[in-house]
Amino acid sequence: MTQERSTAAGADPGEEAGRHVGVIGYGAAGRACAALLLADPRYRLTVLMRSPMAGQLPDRLSAVTSLDALIAARPQIVVEAASAEAFATLAPACLLAGIDVVAASVGALQSRETWDAVVAACSEGRSRLVLPSGAVGGLDYIAAAALSGDIAVTYTSRKPPAAWTAELAAAGLAEAARSQAVTLFEGSAPEAARLYPRNLNAGLTVALAAGIDRTLVRVVADPAVTTNTHEIAVTGAAGDAFLRFANRPSPDNPKTSMITALSLASAVRKRFDPMQ
Ligand SMILES: NC(=O)c1ccc[n+]([C@@H]2O[C@H](COP(=O)([O-])OP(=O)(O)OC[C@H]3O[C@@H](n4cnc5c(N)ncnc54)[C@H](O)[C@@H]3O)[C@@H](O)[C@H]2O)c1
Repeated sequence: MTQERSTAAGADPGEEAGRHVGVIGYGAAGRACAALLLADPRYRLTVLMRSPMAGQLPDRLSAVTSLDALIAARPQIVVEAASAEAFATLAPACLLAGIDVVAASVGALQSRETWDAVVAACSEGRSRLVLPSGAVGGLDYIAAAALSGDIAVTYTSRKPPAAWTAELAAAGLAEAARSQAVTLFEGSAPEAARLYPRNLNAGLTVALAAGIDRTLVRVVADPAVTTNTHEIAVTGAAGDAFLRFANRPSPDNPKTSMITALSLASAVRKRFDPMQ
């Protein structure tokens, strides 16, 4: 908890002035997250966009086009919903300025350089990077079970072959994937996130909860699934678990899962909630 946020009563001192949230990226997840937050009249948003948007912006939402302007607006928390590259270039500056960041592009942390920059910025800015559950869940269980020291996790991303058209063609597996599940990758979460920066955020999120060395990531093109599916198998001293998430696409954008924006908005709301 940052100093600004903690009060004897546990309430957020920013509450009376409203909840001011910054958003980096106004694409599928950023826009849906913004709409979810704005449905609550206590929220106002400052959104960092690449260029000014044509047309009317929603009430209580203002747009800026530079990182300096976003930081100068002093949001209490920033949601990154842009890309791994944007996360790496923009998130450390927000953290250094003392602003917590909720990151959608968790996969960016596979880069040692980005990881180190984030850790240093959090330390100097007395801020925190929040890793939302994103497309999956059960991270609380995994993190707790990992404390036993005895845990092994397999995270499997299972998507229809149409989601991997280019990769299957490059591997000469397009024909095989029409009738059977084809494993495109098996290895570590950082390597998966490096190879598939837009698709393997969840693998790294799981691995950061379980431990990188204790997590095996598999990427499967599976003609038997119709939606983006995530499976997490946990075995360990505390017990075994199997979690499966079959995500529905966002009603506004079939390319992104509905749950991602819900998860970002939920993480923001939690940060304002005195009851954790
Ligand atoms: N954590 C998870 O489980 C999870 C799940 C799904 C998506 N994601 C990640 O969330 C991010 C957003 O996904 P999306 O589906 O909304 O993508 P999207 O392409 O629909 O939207 C991204 C938006 O960010 C903007 N943008 C990119 N760089 C920017 C910059 N430097 N400054 C300002 N705006 C910038 C783009 O112009 C675009 O409008 C991606 O990195 C994606 O991989 C994470």
